[in-house]
Amino acid sequence: MSTPSPDIRRLFEPRSIAVVGASHDPEKIGHKILQNIISSGYKGAIYPINPKGGEILGQHVLTALAEIPGELDLVCTVVPAHYVFDSVKAAAQQQAKFNLVISSGFSEVGNSEEERRIVAYAREHGMRILGPNIFGLYSATAPVDVTFGPGGILPGHVAIITQSGALGLAMIGKTAAENIGISAMVSVGNKADLNEADLIEYLVEDPNTHSILMYIEGVRDGAHMVEVLKRVTRRKPVVVIKSGRSRRGAAAAASHTGSLAGSDDVFAAVMRQAGVLRAESIKEGFNLCRFLSRTSVPQGGNTVIVTNGGGIGVLATDACEKYGVSLLDDVQRLQEIFGPVTPDFGSTKNPIDLTGGATETAYEGALAAALESDAIHAVIALYCETAMFDADKLTPLIASTHARYAAAKKPVVFSAFGGGSIDDNIGRLAEKKISVFDDVYEAVACLGGLYRYYHHRTTPPLPPDEVALDAAAMEEVVRGARADRRTFLLADEAQRLMGLIGVPMPQSRVARTLEEAVAHAEQIGYPVVMKIVSRDILHKSDAGGVALDLETRDEVMDAYQAILRNARAAVPNARVTGVEVSEMVRRGLELIVGARRDAGFGPIVMFGLGGIYVEVMKDISFRSVPLNRAEVLNMMAEIRAYPLLRGVRGEDPKDIESVVNAILRVASAIRQCESITDIEINPLVAYEEGQGARAVDARILLAKV
Ligand code: ACO
Repeated sequence: MSTPSPDIRRLFEPRSIAVVGASHDPEKIGHKILQNIISSGYKGAIYPINPKGGEILGQHVLTALAEIPGELDLVCTVVPAHYVFDSVKAAAQQQAKFNLVISSGFSEVGNSEEERRIVAYAREHGMRILGPNIFGLYSATAPVDVTFGPGGILPGHVAIITQSGALGLAMIGKTAAENIGISAMVSVGNKADLNEADLIEYLVEDPNTHSILMYIEGVRDGAHMVEVLKRVTRRKPVVVIKSGRSRRGAAAAASHTGSLAGSDDVFAAVMRQAGVLRAESIKEGFNLCRFLSRTSVPQGGNTVIVTNGGGIGVLATDACEKYGVSLLDDVQRLQEIFGPVTPDFGSTKNPIDLTGGATETAYEGALAAALESDAIHAVIALYCETAMFDADKLTPLIASTHARYAAAKKPVVFSAFGGGSIDDNIGRLAEKKISVFDDVYEAVACLGGLYRYYHHRTTPPLPPDEVALDAAAMEEVVRGARADRRTFLLADEAQRLMGLIGVPMPQSRVARTLEEAVAHAEQIGYPVVMKIVSRDILHKSDAGGVALDLETRDEVMDAYQAILRNARAAVPNARVTGVEVSEMVRRGLELIVGARRDAGFGPIVMFGLGGIYVEVMKDISFRSVPLNRAEVLNMMAEIRAYPLLRGVRGEDPKDIESVVNAILRVASAIRQCESITDIEINPLVAYEEGQGARAVDARILLAKV
């Protein structure tokens, strides 16, 4: 049983810290951590713990945690793995609130049992564990550096949470070199107890944190993480770098941290749904976080590109299309604003091209015009090195423009391209906390990220559209399969379940004799489809167990015999219940709708172009459940084949509403019936508006018991 969690503030703003394993040896991790705590200017009580006692770095060493006189907010455990449990026990007895377990040697090397034992004990005693297998934590608010990093962390407004230790330690130096100020840096390691979601709950309230960067390899309790992220991104931007995208990368990540990297498609979709920005590389992640932590909220979408180089202007235009940045295209307005500052041979059409002949005065004038105009909401300022523009004047020009128009609160991205002197300018401006990019795509990517983020933030959240289904009746259908020790439903069970979910399927009956097959076909009406029903044959077509478009009594009789013959040849000992005779569904647009319980993120839904080539086309999109109608529509619009639903080449649009309903109902079923792990309707045939959609085949899998 867990006792209530302590206030997360005490992790980031501890009033007292004990270092268990504080070493006398300056080369050891336990010594470096103590050194960093002291040199970071920490004002609270510090208790080095070492059975040898004595003094380390001028601090009196206690021989046991029990000697600590007062309250203990944070313990940092730096002893070999086999001593950690006893140390955690002693910390819990001292009523410590948080414990950073630096030590390695747990689930990342297969020692999961010991890790679970430590966490269970801590939770029972009201203490939370960060780690194990971490480099520690830095907090600018405290301030305190409880890491064995190189020190010298530059305080600022970007919070970093990292699952990789070595990468995180290296980020300490890299962020300082890149002039990225840090509000907090947390290593989460094996995430045996506290994870990203718990930490973000603090960071969203921390006034020092303006943006949050996460490096993730694998997700634990993804459903909770998404729920927290959805709330947090309404207040602060969150950028995620997820490794393990490729198959090989995922395998490396799995062995690295002891947690499985989930499917990248699902991860990407749920992060987008939660309003999180995804960065492909560390550089992109740094760029986005730094820019988002410094820049103003855009007041509208009208962006202009000001450039002294035509080519770079075109590159920026391409980048705007890629990153969803919209360019102001009111030609008359642009002429009014930029006509007076643009040479006759230049262009006032966006990009505003001052040409290579532009002097620093002309460039400054055009920037001022852009920043002063109410019609313009964001500026992309590009500079190519020329003989006409003294490169030494670039830093003062950008710095003064930046300062003069700070009150205008317009997002501006600068990009400068040229030789060594331009790089020197970029470095000098970085020191002044002004981001200038040497690559135009990087600059525009930041503006695109800003717009994506504010679009999400200003779109009001809608409550989920959940359909109340008869969960008891669904469980009743599942019980039949369970009694048979099956983890999938047979055709007639799947049909009953789909009826309860509310997605119509064609009329069908199971025939156990040739005469029954004919009778069912006559009742249903020709043409009909026939399919083998066997618990041992899941892939019916592969076993020759399907016959389509049967139009006469004779065709039904022949098909019945052929299906049984084929099935017996394909799977000799298959237990055959009979042959299903169904109404032949008329042709329409074949879609796929699925729902499953994802190991990382809990229930998710999938939508895409269906049919037999679904694996090849992979034209699918995902969302986490619960979700609302608007999100379902967005999810549908994401697939490449979406125009087919809207109707192409004179076709009538399809009944989109009935597809939305099918998705919402399947999503509700996976949430409300816990026994079901997978529902896959393929194809869901969509007809013209008003004519609905029909589930032709439904595969339903159950959880193992
Ligand atoms: N209580 C207090 N102090 C103790 C105890 C105890 N129960 N037991 C031992 N100590 C003292 C020791 O006497 C020693 O002090 P001394 O040097 O003054 O004699 C000190 O604690 C350290 O103990 P050692 O046995 O010397 O352990 P060592 O420092 O070699 O290693 C460590 C401990 C660092 C925790 C190691 O076991 C470990 O796990 N290393 C990996 C850490 C790591 O990389 N974590 C992931 C970071 S992320 C990344 O990938 C970078």
